[in-house]
Amino acid sequence: MTDFDPIDTLRPHIRDLPSYEAISDSVAIAEQYGIAKKDILRLDGNENPFGASPLALQALQNGYEPERYTDANQTLLREALQEFLQVPAENIVAGAGSDELIDLIYRMWVHPGDRIVTCGPTFGMYAFDAAIHQAEFIDIKRKNDWSVDEEALLHEAENAKLVILATPNNPTGNALSPLLVKELLKTNALIILDEAYIEFSQTNSMVDIASSHPSLIVLRTFSKWAGLAGLRIGYAVANKRTVDVFMKTKQPYNVSTPSVAAAIASLHDTEELDRRASILTSERDRMFAVLEKISWLEPFPSETNFLLVRTIERDARQISDKLRRKGIFIRTYSEEIIKDCIRISMGTSSQNDRVIEALSNLEI
Ligand SMILES: Cc1ncc(COP(=O)(O)O)c(C=O)c1O
Repeated sequence: MTDFDPIDTLRPHIRDLPSYEAISDSVAIAEQYGIAKKDILRLDGNENPFGASPLALQALQNGYEPERYTDANQTLLREALQEFLQVPAENIVAGAGSDELIDLIYRMWVHPGDRIVTCGPTFGMYAFDAAIHQAEFIDIKRKNDWSVDEEALLHEAENAKLVILATPNNPTGNALSPLLVKELLKTNALIILDEAYIEFSQTNSMVDIASSHPSLIVLRTFSKWAGLAGLRIGYAVANKRTVDVFMKTKQPYNVSTPSVAAAIASLHDTEELDRRASILTSERDRMFAVLEKISWLEPFPSETNFLLVRTIERDARQISDKLRRKGIFIRTYSEEIIKDCIRISMGTSSQNDRVIEALSNLEI
């Protein structure tokens, strides 16, 4: 019998890795509470309640060959993105979600001990991947209104290998000022802007700047606007030299054939996807106005498809648990700075009505 022990032999930083807080298994929890599957309302993952576009669903039926490897050069997808973004295909690379691209960026540029700077609270993968790659992770906490401490950020950026910021940010919902981005681009750090929610925002995308600037990478995804979260497909926009190293370093067949087919079809259905996005942003604004009137809730302005809401003198986890017992799943946090907040992804109008009713009648 071998003495090999999979834990003892692990690289120490992997052994000590804190687990990523993924979306909870709503089906198992609902079963535990005796809630029928049809009554589960998942508003904890910032997914799109309308699902994939009709053309994407059609492409998933008969628009790809499962027995074939995908095109390692991603030619058709990059061409479709060129048309959509008005950025040359040579400046675009696709990944299995932005998640894969974040990991790939760290793998390519971050040496153990390098400094990665962000402004929390923010998307958990930035810190998770930093731990995997043994980076020093610097989290400059946002101010009370969730704005970035610009002075501290610019100061830290001077000595950083990489600055990674979501704009608009998850979970705070606010976007960065273009002036701040301009200042960041004057530093020697590699600047990553994660625009996962940009289609729900009034803020302009930075993809055109990214295509020519030497130190800017913009990340985008089909998970939110296009409703393809389960297919895992996103993309990065950067200058050609940067994209060339992505193409060289990525797994050759990193995006699957159904994901590519659905993504291209989505780009032929942008009117429908934009129409849905605008319903979600109107719903977000309607929900904001309603929740603001509940004395123990304080919603924050949002440029995304979700709302972050502070719970005043009430326990956020308890609220979430009460909602779960009604089949409604929302996001809570263990991080101190947002422990007293819940995050609610926007559903359809009737789904959101269900949330409003549940919150209005909550006994705590
Ligand atoms: C800011 C941000 N970036 C990236 C992602 C993940 O995107 P993808 O599904 O493309 O990996 C999320 C998902 O919630 C997110 O909130």
